[in-house]
Amino acid sequence: MKNEQAILLTGGAGYIGSHTFVALHEAGFAPVILDDFSNSHPAVLDRLERITGRAPVLERGNVLDTAFVEAVLRRHRIAGVVHFAGSKAVGESVAQPLKYFGNNIGGAISLLRAMEAVFLGPGSWAPPTLVFSSSATVYGDPATVPITEDFPRSHTNPYGHTKLVIEDMLAAVRQAQPAWRVGVLRYFNPVGAHASGLIGEDPAGIPNNLMPYVTQVAVGLRPQLSVFGGDYPTPDGTGVRDYIHVDDLAAGHVAALRALSSGASFTVNLGTGQGYSVLQVVRAFEQASGRKVPYQVVARRAGDVAQCYADPSLAKRVLGWQARKGLEEMCADAWRWQSGNPKGYAT
Ligand code: WQD
Repeated sequence: MKNEQAILLTGGAGYIGSHTFVALHEAGFAPVILDDFSNSHPAVLDRLERITGRAPVLERGNVLDTAFVEAVLRRHRIAGVVHFAGSKAVGESVAQPLKYFGNNIGGAISLLRAMEAVFLGPGSWAPPTLVFSSSATVYGDPATVPITEDFPRSHTNPYGHTKLVIEDMLAAVRQAQPAWRVGVLRYFNPVGAHASGLIGEDPAGIPNNLMPYVTQVAVGLRPQLSVFGGDYPTPDGTGVRDYIHVDDLAAGHVAALRALSSGASFTVNLGTGQGYSVLQVVRAFEQASGRKVPYQVVARRAGDVAQCYADPSLAKRVLGWQARKGLEEMCADAWRWQSGNPKGYAT
């Protein structure tokens, strides 16, 4: 029998967490999901079992419950933690800032306290090892593109502010206790779904992000896409982003855990390095799906930037990782998921 390392995935039932579950399983790890299903669906567990042939180990609860997290770490003799759990809707964070500061910063503090007690306390079996889901949002409105990790950071909404504060908190903890091994992953724009079509993005309510909006228009749930801004200083006037297939992103977490096992901490961009405009995405999606996506160009969305794409070369050097899947595959996989599950996991 393989000696599998147990990895705790907080928020492991969510969009990126569930894809990372599959990637870790395939890489020979034993992932354990901690989730309270506040923004995910228990049906994902069944789907994960169908993909991996193994019923996922679930610990149902909230990261804010430090004693619970501590017990979970001990129960499964966890070797490393990937911290996905958190609230992630930019607009909601402006309306409900305390929800975001409480869940995201409070959640991170709770998790770090539990990890400190277990991994730096008596009877520890491993160094405290953490991979954190950060975001390209920490670059605010970048002065130039592509973006390297040493670009100045800023925030324009409470969601982004929480990512920045947590990054700083992790740096301070590492400085105080050098035994910590911390990998900070700054995601660009994750899209797509597992090739099986069994798991994918299932946003609650009206999607905030482009790809799920496009797929919901294509499947007939919404009449048309509003393209936010046609007058940006970009080739076709619409916003340019670095869309990355969620499977590539998941592979980045496996690579991050492997890199941390040799000790050094890091902060890296996870992107493709290639920017696409909103209209390029719409066209690629129409090609991949064979469906029309009616759209109308409307005013810019407050807080949006013209262009945002990564220089992913540091991740290649530090993790030996690079994105492999192109826009066509992202669109085809997003469509397979949406068309097979028109109402998401509730279908
Ligand atoms: C992409 C492009 C829009 C919707 C946000 C957060 C970031 C991260 C991911 C997550 C932009 C345009 C979108 C629509 C449109 N957070 N668009 N019509 O804004 O790059 O990043 O989500 O956890 O922190 O800021 O992603 O998918 O919302 O937008 O025209 O209905 O699509 O203007 O150019 P964004 P997005």
